[in-house]
Amino acid sequence: MDSIVTKKWRNHFRLSLFLIATSALLFTSSCKKDDCEDPPVTDPLDGMISLLDLQSLPPVSYPLNNPITTEKAELGRLLFWDPIVGGEKDMACVTCHHPGLGYGDGIDLAIGVNGSGLGPDRTENTGGLILSMPIARVPRNAPTILNSAYNGLTSNNGYDPLQSPMFWDSRFNSLETQCQKPPTSRSEMRGDAYADVDAMDSIALRLAAIPEYVQLFTDVFGGTNPVTVENYAKAVATFERTIVSTNSPYDQYLAGDLTALSSDQKNGLILFNGKARCSNCHYGPMLSDYDFHALGIPENPASPLFPADSGKYKEFKFRTPTLRNATLTGPYMHNGMLENLKDIVEYMNAGVSGNSNVTPDMLASDMTPLGLTETEINQIVAFLESLTDENFDQIVPTSVPSGLTVGGNIQ
Ligand code: HEC
Ligand code: HEC
Repeated sequence: MDSIVTKKWRNHFRLSLFLIATSALLFTSSCKKDDCEDPPVTDPLDGMISLLDLQSLPPVSYPLNNPITTEKAELGRLLFWDPIVGGEKDMACVTCHHPGLGYGDGIDLAIGVNGSGLGPDRTENTGGLILSMPIARVPRNAPTILNSAYNGLTSNNGYDPLQSPMFWDSRFNSLETQCQKPPTSRSEMRGDAYADVDAMDSIALRLAAIPEYVQLFTDVFGGTNPVTVENYAKAVATFERTIVSTNSPYDQYLAGDLTALSSDQKNGLILFNGKARCSNCHYGPMLSDYDFHALGIPENPASPLFPADSGKYKEFKFRTPTLRNATLTGPYMHNGMLENLKDIVEYMNAGVSGNSNVTPDMLASDMTPLGLTETEINQIVAFLESLTDENFDQIVPTSVPSGLTVGGNIQ
């Protein structure tokens, strides 16, 4: 992570470049009538893409010890959809990361074991299981796994996929490590089927007892005993690295299609990188600095951590999320407390803490009133909408090798 000083300097530098570029633009377009034979500058952002360091996504990086093959990704897909990975066999990864919900779950705080239904219709403790005690809500909002392959990428010069930070507080690195965590969590996937320390080994034993999985693991990994926790993780991570969306109108615009953004979106982009200061934290190809900031989002009373989810360093900081495909992944923030994108821009515009645990001195220094007008707020929202590319893999397997209900208890 950059030191605060470097970062502040860079942000200052970016803003200065931006102001120079804007004034140069005003200057060149105010030529006298006779000098304007050449087509006038038609795009408000002409020449500014490189100055503002706006970037599209590079190809996905794969770890050297886990290169992609189609068969491995397809095995990962089955594991992602198969509730055999859930202790009580009612939860799959996809229960909370569904392609129809932008690979999120469309609710404020995720509902795991013993819930039923999908997305906004999902309810807790309605799955009919008899458990030692009721299952609490998951304390955090489920982020999308779309483009999670790129977590940690702050410039399109590349990144180390084994160091990709995971979760709202980046407490684990890499998709390979991450996919071993939900199956051990009682509320997310495990229930009472086995102890948390036994979860992954128990799942490997379950998989090894299903001939179709044994065949698929053997085809992908070879060897005499290929159904291991490590290979499970490699397959799931490989599948997730194929769940990307890289061709939003914003990307098309950066690639040179000046018509890909509406004029409101272009103005929104300028505000995002200027007056509204969003790009101080949301920059680079993922529109995230992958750093932690306290925005003072109100606590969610439904959270088992209420009245205080103190986040990273117990300072109420959370990792800046990507803004790609945000139109698909509401409600927003680490606890789902903001309902829509306009709420967020209005919240940032007000620039004050909404959480009594977060005093003004704890707030991110960029949280000061922005003075955006209603029109400007709407233009920023329009720009955020240009970051969506719905042309991603939404394939739903027709069956999973365990024979269990595809996707878990989501009917
Ligand atoms: C009960 C719902 C639920 C289930 C089931 C679930 N997740 Fe998640 N997932 C979440 C929540 C909530 C978070 C954020 C947790 C946090 O930040 O503390 C998360 C975070 C993630 C992240 C990190 C994304 C990022 O940008 O940091 C990945 C990747 C992910 N899940 C993949 C999976 C995989 C793979 C499985 C299956 C093995 C799975 N999830 C099962 C709810 C769920
Ligand atoms: C100081 C750094 C910072 C600034 C400046 C900033 N953000 Fe964020 N943004 C964050 C962090 C951190 C979160 C997550 C906060 C949380 O969950 O508590 C976030 C969350 C979001 C989300 C929710 C995404 C999701 O999936 O939940 C959106 C949308 C967003 N910001 C847009 C903006 C816009 C638009 C601006 C400018 C008006 C802006 N941000 C300014 C750091 C920042």
